[in-house]
Amino acid sequence: MNIIWHKKSRQYHLYNDKISYIMGISPVGELGGIYFGKRIHDKEEFSYADYRFALPNVTVDPDTESYSRELNRQEYPSFGTGDFGAAAFEVEQSNGSRISSFTYKSHSIFKGKTPLNGLPATYAGEDEAMTLEVTLEDDVAKMTLVLSYTIFDKYPVVARHAVFRNNGTETVKLTRALSMCLDLPDRDYRWMQFSGAWARERIPQEKELSAGSVMIESKRGVSSANQNPFVIIKRPGTDDFSGDAFGFSFVYSGNFLAQAECDTFGRTRILMGINPERFGWPLEKGEEFETPEVVMAVTGSGLNDLSQTYHSLYNNNLVRGKWKNRPRPVLINNWEATFMDFTEERILSIAEKAKEAGVELFVLDDGWFGERNDDYAGLGDWIENPDKLPQGMKGLARKMNAMGLKFGFWIEPEMVNPDSNLFRRHPDWALQTPGRKASLGRHQLVLDYSREEVVDYVFDMLKKVISDAPISYIKWDMNRSLTEVYSAELPPQKQGMVYHKYVLGVYRLYEKLRAEFPEILFESCSSGGNRFDAGMLYYAPQAWCSDNTDAIDRIKIQYGTSYGYPISSIGAHVSAVPNQQTGRNVSITTRANVAYFGAFGYELDLNHITDEEFEEVKRQIEFMKENRELFQFGRFYRLRSPFEADQAAWIVVSEDGKRAILALYCMRSNVNMLPGFLKLAGLKEDALYTLKGEEYYGDELMNLGVPVGRLAADGFAIGRDFVSYVEVLEAK
Ligand code: DGJ
Repeated sequence: MNIIWHKKSRQYHLYNDKISYIMGISPVGELGGIYFGKRIHDKEEFSYADYRFALPNVTVDPDTESYSRELNRQEYPSFGTGDFGAAAFEVEQSNGSRISSFTYKSHSIFKGKTPLNGLPATYAGEDEAMTLEVTLEDDVAKMTLVLSYTIFDKYPVVARHAVFRNNGTETVKLTRALSMCLDLPDRDYRWMQFSGAWARERIPQEKELSAGSVMIESKRGVSSANQNPFVIIKRPGTDDFSGDAFGFSFVYSGNFLAQAECDTFGRTRILMGINPERFGWPLEKGEEFETPEVVMAVTGSGLNDLSQTYHSLYNNNLVRGKWKNRPRPVLINNWEATFMDFTEERILSIAEKAKEAGVELFVLDDGWFGERNDDYAGLGDWIENPDKLPQGMKGLARKMNAMGLKFGFWIEPEMVNPDSNLFRRHPDWALQTPGRKASLGRHQLVLDYSREEVVDYVFDMLKKVISDAPISYIKWDMNRSLTEVYSAELPPQKQGMVYHKYVLGVYRLYEKLRAEFPEILFESCSSGGNRFDAGMLYYAPQAWCSDNTDAIDRIKIQYGTSYGYPISSIGAHVSAVPNQQTGRNVSITTRANVAYFGAFGYELDLNHITDEEFEEVKRQIEFMKENRELFQFGRFYRLRSPFEADQAAWIVVSEDGKRAILALYCMRSNVNMLPGFLKLAGLKEDALYTLKGEEYYGDELMNLGVPVGRLAADGFAIGRDFVSYVEVLEAK
């Protein structure tokens, strides 16, 4: 890994063993892009990659009379000076002008990576990464812009963000401040996004790029289940096993924009950052604005490789604290078993049975506080309801501990019901626009986390409950989008700050709780997977993936999630049948076979299953405990897509390739078909593996494959709907 500054050509080359990122100071002094892709040899000069001529009807810089911003690749373009593409930023100056040109002043290159201020970001030690910070200035607007690039030693990854500073005396306003722009020299790409809604999150979708824009965004205040802040650009024909692709992952949990714009000359521009819509950030004299981070990754060997890069990077350089790279406890959550209708006695009876099965942690979900007997009341009042918890959280937690279970509970700290003591006391603490009614979502309003006092108040309330009892786990939920976004505390010209300040407030509360309770395992949640993003992983190493716990639907949801996020981060539970969301009946075997590939647990009352099923649950938990390190942190390969076939398959492989766990799911059986072959991946070619009592070489399993057909004699029998297999492969 190195970052080289070629003084003569004024070009930078950031490289490691896998990739090169090359850019340079353009003839007009701005930063221009040259190359991002597989590692290439270093050279003093790559200027031939620029276009130094103008085409008809193209505007050029007045000094060079030949350099056109429109034709050349830009690193962080503005609008209005000849680049007619989507801009990375815009600054409104005191005279009303929005024109700017930031030109090179200096740079620094250093080992490691500096943290962002109040924002989540990847981190790295001095031997793990190098960072380049290029300082540019606009002398007219009197502003500084620092563009930061970190290259990691082990990963084909560059992390980027930008910092603006107002050096003048007049206030300026940022109306657009994206985190990155990448210009690519052609447009032969397909765009992949991960879209959905509640209970059907992160479903991969593809589009061909052509002249014009493809764009996804969130304006909901959270990253959202509708569009995930992770996109892939790939060459046509690239699949999970081969081909070129780039990934762009936004380390942020609020409104975002991700865009690919192809101009009519063939340039493809990728942009990602905070959604400019409803964003306006005034910078007074001496003030700074720092954008969140985007992690860009490259592969030349297919999308499994790209996903594995994100999995390892996020496990090793984003997740922090005690739970980093630590297998997660097998838990039971009472939500789908009781909803809010429970007594301590009922909870203890669920816990006792779970303990007998081998469960390690009990999570008490919604309904334990205030007047919370349905979802009309109580949010905001984080005080135990004595009818449900007669000896408080302390009493229940101690009983759990005495039973040999760790204990944790659910909170939704960003919300308030109008029917709550908190709202009656502080009605102005909810986000609402003066003179207008505030829309409700699940009968609740959103607290104004742009205000420090609100965050501090909620922290104090939660701190009291948590420190009172032996708490090992917190599930942090968030069940509605933001509307009527206006803060009673801010003047009119600062209302454009509220969405982002809200997210900063959420991060601040997480940081305060993590600092106060470093041992606690946090799980983020937002009506299931409405805020499953890389930003959250910095605070909570796992996220409840979806409220849809139906195993067959979950195959798709977990499959889609695996493109951008590690298996260790995917909260996955076995729930009761018929499934509460889909009404589907799936065996307890298949339900567990899907949930194993995640942060595993149960979400049902084990007193209500048959004795036979209970014996199986005991075996499942034992199996999970033996293999959880491999399930959650092994190298994960998607093998067969549930979106393209009636079966799905994936495999996790140990670091040394000697042990693997294969899963195959039949979502719909087909009649009168010859057996096919499922090719495995990630194994050692020469190793001899045992699979279902037979011996196979690694190359045999990966090239010829294992037979999959209707009957057992065919190998893996998939003659029935919802049948599934989880098989361990062991090399000699
Ligand atoms: C939505 C979550 O996704 C569920 O798991 C559960 O915690 C409910 N909220 C509780 O209200």
